[in-house]
Amino acid sequence: MSTDSTATTASPSGARSRVVLGVAGGIAAYKACEILRRLTESGHDVTVVPTAAALEFVGAPTWSALSGKPVSAQVWDAVHEVPHVRIGQEADLVVVAPATADLLAKAAHGLADDLLTNTLLTARCPVVLAPAMHTEMWEHPATQANVATLRSRGVLVIEPAEGRLTGKDSGKGRLPEPGEIVEVAREVLLRGRGAADLAGRHVLVSAGGTREYLDPVRFLGNRSSGLQGWALARAAVARGAEVTLVAANVALPDPAGVKVVRVETTAELRAEVVSAAAGADAVVMAAAPADFRPAAQATTKIKKADDGSAPSIELVQNPDILAEISHERVRADAVIVGFAAETGDATGDVLTLGRAKLARKRCDLLVVNDVSGGAVFGSPENEAVILGADGRSVAVPRGTKAAVAHAIWDQVVATWS
Ligand code: CTP
Repeated sequence: MSTDSTATTASPSGARSRVVLGVAGGIAAYKACEILRRLTESGHDVTVVPTAAALEFVGAPTWSALSGKPVSAQVWDAVHEVPHVRIGQEADLVVVAPATADLLAKAAHGLADDLLTNTLLTARCPVVLAPAMHTEMWEHPATQANVATLRSRGVLVIEPAEGRLTGKDSGKGRLPEPGEIVEVAREVLLRGRGAADLAGRHVLVSAGGTREYLDPVRFLGNRSSGLQGWALARAAVARGAEVTLVAANVALPDPAGVKVVRVETTAELRAEVVSAAAGADAVVMAAAPADFRPAAQATTKIKKADDGSAPSIELVQNPDILAEISHERVRADAVIVGFAAETGDATGDVLTLGRAKLARKRCDLLVVNDVSGGAVFGSPENEAVILGADGRSVAVPRGTKAAVAHAIWDQVVATWS
């Protein structure tokens, strides 16, 4: 998670960021209470603008108590303060969660029949819409056309999550986790308007560490937390990309707007990455696949021997996924990024080993981490040097994994252009 709270709460003028939280009339309106709480607790000045339908789900007293401000859905309250213009004009960010099919249609067509739609028309700051509705409504050509229109105007429309919907049914249309919507809001506040330089791009990120099973209960694994891969996925969403995240054993909630494919072993990771890479404009291999796996996996639990002896485990090498997709490029124009965790050794220092790995794997960019002492694992911070096959070398200073993620996307964008 981004931990740089000072940067995220300040608007460009140095004041606290003014965030408008629009809430449309869907059952997920209750989740917006959690979004509101998290935004206010991280220091933002939040004005809640519900629709009349949202107030059927969660009443004005709740919004008012949590935001510390009066709350109205319509333009006729405090008219002398011209709220239908002022709220949008003064905002640093407008987030609508949940955004219903009706709200998307109104926003796409410029209707202004209540305080929220007026606010959307007067806002000149970044706008993030988090749709939530039934799958049929989301997939309807009318809704998809409205989403395309809004995106073409620079509105960040977050893809809904898949899962349980209001009734017994499930499918695409769930509101992403409130904490993850707040992460997108923070990212967009940090970067400001016009930062959607990954719009129209499909990117693939791998994250986490694979497990290689010895028997049904034991495995060989590694210390990768998945935090850097998560930061890459979140940053890409905030920059407008369609994101697929192949995650190996990561105990984090799905980032908002991301298609997450959960895997365990290197073989599963390989299958998902190779298949998704065919449609990706960029692939970032932040995962730590186990380099070796047991030659054989016992089908029943391996028992201790009575004589105190321990079993020997024969290992075989796993396929190198990064090298495979870089050597057998399905798309010549895709940018492929690898990571190298190096400590330096007798044969060379960290960067020399990084250069050799870049050449060996034939990827376009290699993010080199100095892991002497294990400092990077599970830490919210990272620092790196990004090496390019074209000879470039970009030092990324110590900072949040979100900052490192943006530095990596900057280099991907530079490589495309
Ligand atoms: N990688 C991969 N498949 C593997 C092992 C690694 O795709 N089986 C990718 C990682 O996702 C990372 C990069 O290769 O992007 C570098 O991984 P690293 O473990 O540092 O390099 P190795 O190939 O294992 O080289 P060595 O252990 O010799 O340093």
